[in-house]
Amino acid sequence: MGLLSRKVTCNSHGQDSSYFLGWQEYEKNPYDEVKNPKGIIQMGLAENQLCFDLLESWLAKNPDAVSFKREEQSIFKELALFQDYHGLPAFKKALVDFMAEIRGNKVSFDTDHLVLTAGATSANETLMFCLAEKGDAILLPTPYYPGFDRDLKWRTGVEIVSIQCSSSNGFQITESALEAAYQEAQRKNLRVKGVLVTNPSNPLGTTMSRNELDLLVNFVTDKEIHLISDEIYSGTVFSSPAFVSIMEVLKDRKLENTQVWERVHVVYSLSKDLGLPGFRVGAIYSNDPIVVAAATKMSSFGLVSSQTQYLLSAMLSDKKFTKEYISKNHKRLQKRQNKLVSGLEKAGISCLESNAGLFCWVDMRHLLSSNTFEAEMELWKRIVYDVKLNISPGSSCHCTEPGWFRVCFANMSEDTLKLAMQRLKSFVSSITIDNQTHQDLKNMRKKNRTKWVFRLSFQSFHDREQGER
Ligand SMILES: Cc1ncc(COP(=O)(O)O)c(C=O)c1O
Repeated sequence: MGLLSRKVTCNSHGQDSSYFLGWQEYEKNPYDEVKNPKGIIQMGLAENQLCFDLLESWLAKNPDAVSFKREEQSIFKELALFQDYHGLPAFKKALVDFMAEIRGNKVSFDTDHLVLTAGATSANETLMFCLAEKGDAILLPTPYYPGFDRDLKWRTGVEIVSIQCSSSNGFQITESALEAAYQEAQRKNLRVKGVLVTNPSNPLGTTMSRNELDLLVNFVTDKEIHLISDEIYSGTVFSSPAFVSIMEVLKDRKLENTQVWERVHVVYSLSKDLGLPGFRVGAIYSNDPIVVAAATKMSSFGLVSSQTQYLLSAMLSDKKFTKEYISKNHKRLQKRQNKLVSGLEKAGISCLESNAGLFCWVDMRHLLSSNTFEAEMELWKRIVYDVKLNISPGSSCHCTEPGWFRVCFANMSEDTLKLAMQRLKSFVSSITIDNQTHQDLKNMRKKNRTKWVFRLSFQSFHDREQGER
């Protein structure tokens, strides 16, 4: 141990967060309709599995793209030898066009500003290496994607300071919350280098309003700091209000080529919109040529393989395909989100109204035994171990109010989602029954004045769960 680096032993990776612990529990006992029908259903993974049929049908119709051929001639050697960190020009062009298409072509992107990375994970960390270092802070609105503790802090030494958002206004960013975070960083002797937002938000599943975006642009202009917009979910916006990219705001406010323009950076990836997290395709789009040059050199540590670039350049250049994909993806996500919302409603659970993403931000405050994060953990454990659903507690997303959970809906079949909702409904009514039993026993105690110990029992829930199958 003594010979290892401090990085190895420090715990800023965030791996011990309940977000990742839930995944580990799922791995030990994964639900399978046939092989393990009593296993844990994974609802803590923001994967988009709703459009694989479209991707596979495209692959079947385009064998050249998969078998390293161009006009039926093998280009295997060309791809095997390609290792330029600037990326394949054809892929970069196809990617920027896809990004513009997702934004309704209200903005366009230039390949000279684009740096390819191995997913948004690498893009976010690379940006941190370019913009900040130990002793610096990045402000992030809460709740935020738990992976940011790893991606932004772990290897870079940069600190995250929370912009505390609350349920009172649907977790929107306010001027006073921004200012308070800035002051907090200064109190900690940290130099604020920028604000990072996820738009659409993970875990909220909402798009940022123009008002919030304007507020952010004003704030970073005033403080002379960077603004990073992680737009990895931009293609998942399935209902109004429409998605507004930070680039659109800059354009509308005629801020192109001003000082603030160079301090705005967008992160993107095909992990969510195209459902390809395994392909590791991400990008940084920056208006600052120095950042682009440095990030390009750094991208050597996490390049996108040339066969992946080749395959996806063919796929994304097929405009008929991208148009159909984008539209069908929206429709399917909307339908699936409706199913989750109505399933939750039947269990007496509501969630934040959402219009994007692969998850809902679910309000279970009424199921807590007290308004504390201990009670949130207690409830989470029961949901994982007794109900056998892995969802992510709000505390793992640094939410400041106990009782919120992120629940994913696009990484499973409709039948699995239905079963998950049945389990949850059963559980909620078991709690209601238990509470009733608790009340009855309390009344009895008052009556009989005898000493007794009340132990919360979940037997009724388990009995019902047995009957469910
Ligand atoms: C907001 C956000 N940024 C970045 C990532 C990382 O994505 P990738 O798979 O492209 O590395 C995720 C993944 O869940 C995410 O939700």
